[in-house]
Amino acid sequence: MKIFIDSADIAEIKDAVAMGCIDGVTTNPSLIAKTGRSLEKVIRDICEVVDGPISAEVLATDAEGIVREGKILAAIHPNIVVKVPLIAEGIRAVRTLSSAGINTNVTLCFSAPQALLAAKAGATYISPFLGRIDDIGGDGLELISQIVTIYNNYGYETEVLAASIRHPVHLLRCAEMGADVATIPYKVILQLLKHPLTDLGLAQFLEDAKKIPG
Ligand code: E4P
Repeated sequence: MKIFIDSADIAEIKDAVAMGCIDGVTTNPSLIAKTGRSLEKVIRDICEVVDGPISAEVLATDAEGIVREGKILAAIHPNIVVKVPLIAEGIRAVRTLSSAGINTNVTLCFSAPQALLAAKAGATYISPFLGRIDDIGGDGLELISQIVTIYNNYGYETEVLAASIRHPVHLLRCAEMGADVATIPYKVILQLLKHPLTDLGLAQFLEDAKKIPG
């Protein structure tokens, strides 16, 4: 399973990369806005830190504009994946971008039929937002399971990128179900590492080590 960090914060990204567990990055306009810097500058900086797919989102909502913006983003670096909203105009744009050899991440997916159409349009990744479904009383993990099953049934090459992951159990279940990628906030990456028995065990070992002669 590939793990991406869902962040536009360069310090966080550098730290996660140093842990050796990051395969790529996803950003969105809300994450970029938090940095107070321009999208292009942030994306260029991320490209210098991470050698893997980096999703950068378009702001246009018409197919022509999405393709235009997508080509500009893709020209920044070969690792750029153009993030496109899952709307009719977005799906049209994905077809054009994928024919031009540009990788796409279709975002804001909240249903399996949406994911099916994104795959048919040639999306490189589909991003179901499982945490946001849970937030309104739905079952985000069930959506991941449906999409994995449908893509496997028909052999679609589009990768399932589980997004809006809020806690370690989300990641665990996505891994069990065979999601290709999970994009995770920095805070959750740190939570994945934590176990009270690890901390207790280490403290005990260090204490006992003081009794070792020599
Ligand atoms: C994915 O690409 C999105 O940036 C992200 O996972 C959204 O997560 P949120 O629902 O926590 O904002």
